[in-house]
Amino acid sequence: MLTKPEASPDGERARDVCSRHGNRPDELIEILHEVQEQLGCVPEAVIPVIAKAINLSRAEVHGVVTFYHDFRSVPAGRHVVKICRAESCQSMQSEALCSHAKASLKLGFGETSADGQVTLEAVYCLGNCALSPAMMVDGELHGRVDASRFDEIMAETLSEATQ
Ligand code: FES
Repeated sequence: MLTKPEASPDGERARDVCSRHGNRPDELIEILHEVQEQLGCVPEAVIPVIAKAINLSRAEVHGVVTFYHDFRSVPAGRHVVKICRAESCQSMQSEALCSHAKASLKLGFGETSADGQVTLEAVYCLGNCALSPAMMVDGELHGRVDASRFDEIMAETLSEATQ
């Protein structure tokens, strides 16, 4: 028998989050952040639960989830690599860095490696424009990243994983 989304454990947690925010539609972004913090992502299945709780349409909630790059529909890998593609970084060859990152990790943006170790994401300004091109790995900011610096950072990151 299929479980209704609102009766699933994820649905219940999403409903609790909405309730803590007074089921207010203007708190949608905060609600989504909190749901993602608790569940590791905003699963498709909880979108109707949130929509119902705060009296918005599914399309409205879905639109916000897909518009903001911070929200993901499946849990991220153990390491999250974010590369900035905004203007300042673009003017400093971030597209070359993106191509290198995708080729070396064998991932596209928004993808996670099969072993669950790495998720690659594109972001639009990390507030580090003076040191473009910028990237962030597991919350740590890196500036003036070229292909070889990228390789060093990833080697360090992945070796920590095996220690
Ligand atoms: S544009 Fe890349 S850090 Fe601001």
